[in-house]
Order: sequence, then structure tokens, then C-alpha cells
Amino acid sequence: MTLKKIAVLPGDGIGPEIMAEAVKVLQALDLPLQLDWADVGGKAYETSGHPLPPATLKLAQEADAVLFGAVGDWKYDKLERALRPEQAILGLRKALGLFANFRPAICYEQLTHASSLKPELVAGLDILIIRELTGDIYFGQPRGRRTAVDGHFPGAEEGFDTMRYSRPEIERIAHVAFQAAQKRNKRLTSVDKANVLETSQLWKDVVSEVQKSYPDVQLDHMYVDNAAMQLVKAPKKFDVVVTGNMFGDILSDEAAMLTGSIGMLPSASLDANNKGLYEPSHGSAPDIAGQGIANPLATILSAAMMLKFSLNHADAAARIETAVQSVLAQGLRTADIWSEGTTKVSTREMGDAVVKAITTAKTIK
Ligand code: IPM
Ligand code: MN
Repeated sequence: MTLKKIAVLPGDGIGPEIMAEAVKVLQALDLPLQLDWADVGGKAYETSGHPLPPATLKLAQEADAVLFGAVGDWKYDKLERALRPEQAILGLRKALGLFANFRPAICYEQLTHASSLKPELVAGLDILIIRELTGDIYFGQPRGRRTAVDGHFPGAEEGFDTMRYSRPEIERIAHVAFQAAQKRNKRLTSVDKANVLETSQLWKDVVSEVQKSYPDVQLDHMYVDNAAMQLVKAPKKFDVVVTGNMFGDILSDEAAMLTGSIGMLPSASLDANNKGLYEPSHGSAPDIAGQGIANPLATILSAAMMLKFSLNHADAAARIETAVQSVLAQGLRTADIWSEGTTKVSTREMGDAVVKAITTAKTIK
């Protein structure tokens, strides 16, 4: 087995705590992995004056995969935008060409009651949101502040951003989404706002064209406002959802919450060659940082996705997933997913339990 290099970027807030558990789990698997750490986000700003220092970017570029914790803290809100922690993740996505973001929303059987929706609406929920990650209003130029020359208040200060998508950008994410749908239930919902936006009309047209190469996949289009509503009305009607950067940001948080806790959900951001950055879907949660109560499972499951998608260790990924199922079945819960009758555990105890489940499974075999 060839040695695979992983750039480990814990970041801010709960990032270091959850990352420590994911690393423990990776090390328990006895795989030929080389882990290299670097600062990112506010932490990197503190140590080297930039949220994504050149050394961190280089490490990420040279690695086979990146395991990312979380970035951000209110204390950096006053910094100029280019120095804020969030620029680290945006910069990594752009620099590494990570245009395809996979955000699965799976409701684990044992957590059905942790959802804010009625159990029958979410039991067995398994949807996949595929979010385009390097285009749209997030990166569109021009953007900035200026004095308005027209509009409702000419002469007033205004902020502006540009929403844009090119045909090739839409084509490549559409191919990724159709191929993902082919591996699942062959249903794809493309989400846009084509009744209002030109970018969305192009999006809809291009996705429909790409569908001709995937006649086995059933495609439907949905406006984003309706999609937001359908997600809470009948989430199980969705299988794979593909959408742009901004709509995907919002809908993936909504979908995550259906599952009971965003603390359970991993994500993968991939380039054209399946090199990827893996991170929990949740943020840095500075309000609970340092307390040892954060749920490490999203990061642990992100490490599993990394093994499967980028490092060619699908078996090891399955071992992690089975171990996570097993700790949930044992009734172990961090605070975010705790309910009456289950055992509350700390971040570290949860990581230890996953490691134990992995090593026990190994000895039984
Ligand atoms: C996410 C986050 C980021 C985003 C922020 C931190 C820049 O919310 O990964 O969903 O908006 O993409
Ligand atoms: Mn988000």
C-alpha cells in the first residue's frame, strides 16, 4: 500500500477538539498514512498574520487529501474581509479547484427523535446535497462598495456582489450530480431560481442538456423557495439535489437540521480528480469551544469519506461507519444528540468509543 499524505488543519473554536478524535480514529486503522498539521483560520492569523498562510496552502496542495476542522470566531469580525478566518476555507476551495461539495443528510435510526420534525417524516432519511463550490455570488466579480448612481437611492452608499455561472462550470457539476444519482436511486432535483435570475435560467438549461447523457436518471427542477419548503414538508421525496453555491449553502444547513444534529454530518469537497477536502458540515462553534462537549462524529465521518473518495481505502471507511453505528447503538451521545435514557459523553469519550468499536471489530474478525 502506498503512503498517503493527509494535511490536517484543525482551525478554530471546537476544531482542535474534534480533529483530535478524528486523528485518533485514523491512527487506530493501521493504514500507511502520513499526517501533517498546519494552522488555518483565526489560529493562523494569530500565528502568521494570514488565515491561509502560504505554508498551509502548500501543505494542502501537496497532500493527497485535506482533513479540515472549522474556522471562525466572532472576535475576528472586525478584521478586513481578506484576513477573516472564513477566507481560509474559501481560499482553499478556490486554490484547490474543489468545485463539487457533497453534503449527505442522513438520519440515523437511533436519532430519529432528535430531529425537529416528526419522526415519521425523517425516519430513514438519506439525501445528498451536491453544492457547486467555486462559483456563483461567492466568487463573482465585480463586488465591492460604491456610491449608487441609480436605483432607489442614487448617491447613497451601496454594497454589490455579482452572481454568475458559466456553462462549463454548470456542466461539470451537473455531470458529478448525475453520476452520483446513478449510484443511488437515480433521481436528481436541480434547484434554482430561474423564474427570476438569468444565472439560474442558464443553470436550468444546461442541467437539462446534460441530462441527455444520463437517460436513466429522472431529473426535475425546483425553485429554491419551494425546495426550502419541501425539505421540511416531505424531505424523503428528495434523493440527490444539485444546486449553486449560495442556495446550496442555505439548503444544506436546513437539510442537516432534519437529521437531528448538524454535529453528525460530514462533507467532501472534490476537484476533478477526486482530490478533496473533508470537513464537518458544522462550524467552529466558539460558544462551546474548549468545553469538551462538541460532537466529533461529523469529523470522524468526514475522515471516513476521505478514505473512500480520495485515498482508495473504502474498507477502512466502512469500518469507521460501522463503528459509529455501534457507538450510537450503545446509547452513547454527546450533548447535541443526548435524550432521556441515553448516556451523555464528552468529545473525547465519544472518540475513544469509536476507536474501541474499531479495534474490537478487528479482534473479532
Ligand atoms: C459552509 C460555511 C462557509 C460557506 C463559510 C464559513 C464561508 O458556511 O461551508 O457552508 O458559506 O461556504
Ligand atoms: Mn454554510
